[in-house]
Amino acid sequence: MSEHFLVTGGNRLEGEVLVGGAKNSVLKLMAAALLAEGTTVVTNCPDILDVPLMADVLRGLGCEVELEDSEVRITTPAEPKYHADFDAVKQFRASVCVLGPLVARCRRAVVALPGGDAIGSRPLDMHQSGLRLLGARSEIEHGCVVAEADDLHGANIRLVFPSVGATENILMAAVLARGETVIDNAAREPEIVDLCNMLNEMGAKVSGGGSSTLTIQGVRKLEPTTHRVIGDRIVAATWGVAASMTRGDVRVRGVNHKHLGLVLDKLRTAGAEVTPEVDGFRVIQRGRPKAVNFATLPYPGFPTDLQPMAIGLAAVAEGTSMITENVFESRFRFVEEMIRLGADARTDGHHAVIRGVPVLSSAPVWSSDIRAGAGLVLAGLVADGTTEVHDIFHIDRGYPRFVENLRGLGGVIERVGSE
Ligand code: UD1
Repeated sequence: MSEHFLVTGGNRLEGEVLVGGAKNSVLKLMAAALLAEGTTVVTNCPDILDVPLMADVLRGLGCEVELEDSEVRITTPAEPKYHADFDAVKQFRASVCVLGPLVARCRRAVVALPGGDAIGSRPLDMHQSGLRLLGARSEIEHGCVVAEADDLHGANIRLVFPSVGATENILMAAVLARGETVIDNAAREPEIVDLCNMLNEMGAKVSGGGSSTLTIQGVRKLEPTTHRVIGDRIVAATWGVAASMTRGDVRVRGVNHKHLGLVLDKLRTAGAEVTPEVDGFRVIQRGRPKAVNFATLPYPGFPTDLQPMAIGLAAVAEGTSMITENVFESRFRFVEEMIRLGADARTDGHHAVIRGVPVLSSAPVWSSDIRAGAGLVLAGLVADGTTEVHDIFHIDRGYPRFVENLRGLGGVIERVGSE
């Protein structure tokens, strides 16, 4: 029987919440362990399903992987296998990040293509063209992306869009290529910087992390390391937005507030008092939030992963908000669910216009992806009555201890339907 959440609205969130390591970092750091023979340790791993799933992908490639509390130990053999098959990969898309490390380490990679995605098509053309410029041949064959290289050499690569995944795969291939690689229009997300830092700890020579030009001097060999994952800025901001929507007072710890500059500014525009702290930030919202316009963009722009929460905030704000989605083509699909909760929302292409209402109205709703699911729970917190949020396995993929954390802040939520 599948589980769902019952979320009862009306409570103000108050208190403190600690966030774990970033989902969008930890999976790439685990893949980077393929680059060095021996035991790499990644700490501050979040307790989410994608971590054991990634462990299975690595086991399939010949690694030994031990998971204990928030630590993962990955022992990579001298000759990893190069074929990540569909059973391991199908469950989560981020597993394509083994492509770059496998090409670097084995000069050969066969990675099954993950299935479709509710937020829009997610091609790998930029990953492949970057690898080709490094000297690899890459094709899609029988449902797999295949890459092979006799010799990987440095290259000048200009991405047509600062794709997070393409930047990571090309970077992880280039660290063991001969000579210098320059990636222009690279993604600048804090998770990319985290990966650059770990690679440098392993002996790579990467500079420019966090800027749009990454320069990589290839080295012959990397060594294992122990690396701590950065805090999850998307989870942290989810709690910040929840504080604003519920007119609450929440202190979020375990994250670098500098990774959320624009997001915290938007909360201030909504009327919240936002205080940066050494290990996080605090959000206090007195009275009804005000309407705010959002346009999602690659970092340091407003994150597409927070667009559903932004819509939740706009749905109960005073005034009309305009929200523009620039990163994923189908990310507004979940707005239908927000309308079911009484949101006054209209979408047209990649724009949404939301007229705030004082209170939403509980209803059964379905999560289509991790962030949409979290956005719907936040909406449930400001709806009258009890909202049923279905397909919550999505939320469990991105939010560790979601129910415990939300209850700790005074939210009323129950997980039901488990066998
Ligand atoms: C990562 C994050 C995801 C976040 C996204 C954008 C992980 C596990 N996931 O996804 O949570 O929403 O960054 O911040 O880190 N594209 C192409 N061709 C390519 C690659 C990408 O057209 O070869 C397009 C995509 O379809 C999308 C856009 O580029 O429209 C951004 O994708 P990308 O930055 O690559 O996102 P992911 O790495 O998949």
